[in-house]
Amino acid sequence: MNINWVRQQFPALSKQENMVFMDNAGGSQTVGYAIDAITEYLTHYDVQLGASYATSVSASEKLNQATQNIQTYLNAKHVEEVIVGSSSTALVRILSLCLAQQWQKGDEVIITDVDHECNRAAWLELQKQGIVIRQWQINPNTLALETDELLALMSEKTKLVCFTHVSNILGSINPIKQWTELVHQQGVKVCVDGVAYAPHRLIDVRDWDVDFYFFSTYKTFGPHQAVLYGKRDILKSLPGFNHDFIQTSPYKFQPGNVNYELCYAMSAVVQYLCDLGADQTDAEINRNNLTQAYQQIAEYEAGLLQPLLDFLNSKPQIKIIGNAQSNPKQRVATLSFVHDNIDSITIVEQVDPHHIGIRYGDFYAVKLIDHLGLREHQGVVRVSLAHYNTVEEVDGLIHVLDTMI
Ligand SMILES: Cc1ncc(COP(=O)(O)O)c(C=O)c1O
Repeated sequence: MNINWVRQQFPALSKQENMVFMDNAGGSQTVGYAIDAITEYLTHYDVQLGASYATSVSASEKLNQATQNIQTYLNAKHVEEVIVGSSSTALVRILSLCLAQQWQKGDEVIITDVDHECNRAAWLELQKQGIVIRQWQINPNTLALETDELLALMSEKTKLVCFTHVSNILGSINPIKQWTELVHQQGVKVCVDGVAYAPHRLIDVRDWDVDFYFFSTYKTFGPHQAVLYGKRDILKSLPGFNHDFIQTSPYKFQPGNVNYELCYAMSAVVQYLCDLGADQTDAEINRNNLTQAYQQIAEYEAGLLQPLLDFLNSKPQIKIIGNAQSNPKQRVATLSFVHDNIDSITIVEQVDPHHIGIRYGDFYAVKLIDHLGLREHQGVVRVSLAHYNTVEEVDGLIHVLDTMI
C-alpha cells in the first residue's frame, strides 16, 4: 500500500500533524474526497430532488449515482436495498419498529452480549410489546460466541438473530456467513452489525446472504451518517416508517429527507477506495478495485498491529482482551487490553500529553465489559488503528507505554 499517497488524502493528518489518531473505531478521519464532495454538492446541487428544472435533474442524477456506488460497495443486488440514515443506532431502531409490527407476543429475538448496544437496545425495547429476548453469551475462556450456544437458543418462535461482524472491543472477525446459513436453515433472519468491520475488510452482503447489515460511514473515512442494507423482498413485505403514502424502499424507511450531501460524500469514499485499489485516480468504481484496496488495507494493518501485539505480549502484567495474534483472517487492528495494577483511565491519561489519541471505557459494549469483569479496570484501553496510521506512530505509542507499564 502506498502509505504516502494514503496519508496525503486525509487533510487532518497534515493540518494536525502533531496528533496521532488511534481512536479510529470511535471515529475515523474523513478522506479529502468526501470533504470535497460535500462542498461540491452544496455548491452545485443544493436543491430539492425530483423537480423538472435543470439543477434538480442534475442533483437527482448525482444522488442516484452516489447510491449506486454505495450499492457496489455493499455488493447489494438492488439499489432499493440501500437505506441511509443519521446513525446505525437510528437505523436499527427504525428496523426494529417495522419488523416488530409483523411479530406476535411471545415471538423471540436472539441478541449477543458482545454487541455494541446499538444491536441490542432496540431489540430489548420490544420486550414492552411481549417479544422475548434471548441472550447469546460469550464464552469467557475462549472469548468467542459458540455456535452450539446459538443453536441451543433457537426455537420455533425465533424470528431474528442479531450479532456483530467484528466486536469493537475484541477485534475478532466472527464467522457470519456460517452463522447466517445455520440461522436460515431454521427459517430465521439475521441482522448484522458491520460497523467495526467496514473500515478494515470489504463488505459483501450477497456472498454472506445476510438479511440486514449496517455500518456507520463516520468510522469508514466518511461523514456522520450510516447505511443499512436489507434484502429487497423482506423490505418489500415490511411496513414502513414514513408517511403512509410512501410505500417504496428505501424511502419508506427514511422519514423525511436523507442528508444528500453526506450520501454524496460516502460515494466519494467509495471512489477513494477504488483509486487506492487501482493505484490511479478516477478509477472505475467496481468490486475488483474495492477488493484490491481492502487486501492492501488488511495486509498493511496486520503489519501495524504486529509490533504492538509483540510489545503487549511481552508484558506479563498486561492482558490482551481478544486474540493476541495478528492474523488478518481472524482479527482487525482494533486492540483492547487491561493492566493488572494500573487502571485503564490512568494509562490513557498518561498517553494523552503525547498527542496520541487512544481511549478507555466500555465503548457501549456494556454487557461484554460487565460479563468479562472489566468494569473494575475502568473498562479496557483500546487502540484502534486505521490504514493511514504508520509503523512510526505505533513505535511512538509503544515507547510511551513502555515508560509506564
Ligand atoms: C460496533 C459498533 N456498532 C454500532 C455503533 C453505533 O454507531 P452509530 O453511532 O452510527 O449509531 C458503534 C459506535 O460506536 C459501534 O462501534
